[in-house]
Amino acid sequence: MNQEQEYRFPDNFIWGASTAAHQIEGNNIGSDWWAREHAENTDIHEPSGDAADSYNRYEEDIRILAESGLRMYRFSLEWARIEPEQGCFSKAQLLHYRKMIDICKEYGVEPMITLNHMTLPLWFAQQGGWLKPDADAYFARYVEYVLPILHDVVWVCTFNEPNMVALTRGGTEGTDFVASSLPAPDPKISEMLVKAHRKARNVLTALPKVKSGWTIACQAFHAMPGCESEMEEYQYPREDFFTEAAAGDDFVGVQAYLRTFIGKDGPVPVADEVERTLTGWEYFPPALGIAVRHTWEVARQTPIFVTENGLASTDDSRRIDYTFDALAGLHSAMEEGIDVLGYLHWSLLDNYEWGSFTPTFGLVGWDKDTFERLPKPSLEWLGEISKKGVVSHP
Ligand code: BGC
Repeated sequence: MNQEQEYRFPDNFIWGASTAAHQIEGNNIGSDWWAREHAENTDIHEPSGDAADSYNRYEEDIRILAESGLRMYRFSLEWARIEPEQGCFSKAQLLHYRKMIDICKEYGVEPMITLNHMTLPLWFAQQGGWLKPDADAYFARYVEYVLPILHDVVWVCTFNEPNMVALTRGGTEGTDFVASSLPAPDPKISEMLVKAHRKARNVLTALPKVKSGWTIACQAFHAMPGCESEMEEYQYPREDFFTEAAAGDDFVGVQAYLRTFIGKDGPVPVADEVERTLTGWEYFPPALGIAVRHTWEVARQTPIFVTENGLASTDDSRRIDYTFDALAGLHSAMEEGIDVLGYLHWSLLDNYEWGSFTPTFGLVGWDKDTFERLPKPSLEWLGEISKKGVVSHP
């Protein structure tokens, strides 16, 4: 992309950043992930531990986001804290999350709430998780319980990346996001998640201002010459099934980072000479524009919210390069008439990347011993974009 160029976004376009409870809060001890991290012979590289201690430091995190100029904070409620044992709900945890919403409002930040971001209460996972025959009813009961704290909330995501959840059998088989190793999803889980999503959206209609949807992990699939049908066959159960189910929702969340080439035998590994991110993915900023165009078509013109996009790198200037190019691609998709409501960067904070703290996606880092927040130049850069509505390279 031409770094001299500037891109003006609509005045009502919303700029912000995303996080997820298990990845930043710390000590999520009632969850399936915590159990997995501490199991004997675990396949997990390191446990989440205190993570970024955002359970205690959320006010500072929201203040830092607000002071940069960003206007939306997407975070998740942790079901494992709210319902730590089957049918036993915690009022105190509910009030904790209500406080987070209040703090957002105090700082002029619009909250976007994710009801479930990958992790499950351990009791629910032990009963079969999304394979439990009445799993949707349990999820709907949890959503009913949290409804009162959402009374003035507009933006709600039911599930984060249900397609990744289905691929990883609801979390029990790990979340290795390197596209070349994605297993086939379990159709029973995929269908259950659609049912649970619809039930949850139905419960949420009790909220006066709500706009609800779910967010999809988009891979920017690319067919090798002559492999178009193999690509479709690979893509449909892993992505499009879920995107189709979003048609008619208030919005669909696009989460794009990488592209995946599909050949005769499925995904083609990333070539050695290609620049890679700390997650091992190809450095490929156009993924966002491609994903947005594809989602717009498959979800039949459902409004899009970019709910995640970012780069795992220790080089913050590369994060800015990546995001600049991704936003240029997004801008061009919007010029074609695609309705995109906002852009949320992944992630506000360096976080627990499902097994390791090494891939750092944050606009804000933190000291490993004191948890002192260490904002990076990319935060200031994105905050200025939010204030001006214009994307330019520094
Ligand atoms: C997930 C996040 C994850 C990020 C980067 C998304 O798939 O929603 O939880 O940290 O991508 O891998």
